[in-house]
Amino acid sequence: MAKSPISKFKLYELAVQSPNWQVDYLPQFHTWLIGKPPTLMREDFCGTGRISCEWVKRSPKNKAVGLDLDPEVLAYAKNVNQDALSASEKKRVTFIKQDVLKPTREKFDFIGAYNFSYFIFHERKQLLKYAKAACQSLKNHGTFFLEIAGGEGFKEACYESKTLQAPGIGKVEQVWEQHQYDPITQVSDFSIHFKLPGQLIINDAFTYHWRIWEIRELREILVDAGFKKTLVLWEKTDEKGKWQGEYLPAEAANHSQSFIAYVVGVK
Ligand SMILES: C[S@@+](CC[C@H](N)C(=O)[O-])C[C@H]1O[C@@H](n2cnc3c(N)ncnc32)[C@H](O)[C@@H]1O
Repeated sequence: MAKSPISKFKLYELAVQSPNWQVDYLPQFHTWLIGKPPTLMREDFCGTGRISCEWVKRSPKNKAVGLDLDPEVLAYAKNVNQDALSASEKKRVTFIKQDVLKPTREKFDFIGAYNFSYFIFHERKQLLKYAKAACQSLKNHGTFFLEIAGGEGFKEACYESKTLQAPGIGKVEQVWEQHQYDPITQVSDFSIHFKLPGQLIINDAFTYHWRIWEIRELREILVDAGFKKTLVLWEKTDEKGKWQGEYLPAEAANHSQSFIAYVVGVK
């Protein structure tokens, strides 16, 4: 197969990530909950570490630690994203090859697990272990943000494609594929494929074997793990039910075909 002219990690960032959201918008909820802006952030399942690198750009007080298990993606995080930072920013980011199930010695103001990465834990016991490890890794008055997707639309087998503009190579088609959901195990497979100019296809560039956790289950697990309080950030809709891109704490919501929300644990 011809070699791709662009890293699959770069394509992933273009297709999936919106780091500004995680560094500008979500921390405002930490400030609102705790009464003080956060500075020390841990990015779990950090992959290419974009969020950590954006975080240290926001203020000279900010520091970030990214945890991931995969040496290949961590090498990209360091050699590409960290390397593009200024000297002072570089010093305030650390990437560590570490299992998120193990607490870090360093304590953080807030920890984030984005793009549903913790769906990799299929057993309640494992997810509880992760939530306990995160709780232990937070300072007192720390917050833990779990990004969650759900609704029937997330469980239906489907194939959705969108076009990206990849610098230097042009239009790339990204395909998000959802495989059959198993209602007994609550497990489903997902894949990301890319079609590049010149018929080059990166099939199954990324694949996920995920348990689809529900919001209520997550809240119960966070309480069992020792969090004092949990809240759900739910996206506002207009009168016609159209998502508005603004999140508010909610204790109940209307049925929706598919959603992205945040479950927050407050220590
Ligand atoms: C969906 S990807 C990363 C997504 C990224 N957080 C984002 O927001 O786009 C999931 C990452 O989790 C890492 N991972 C899987 N299990 C892990 C574990 N137990 N501890 C740390 N990292 C893990 C994988 O190596 C992979 O890079």
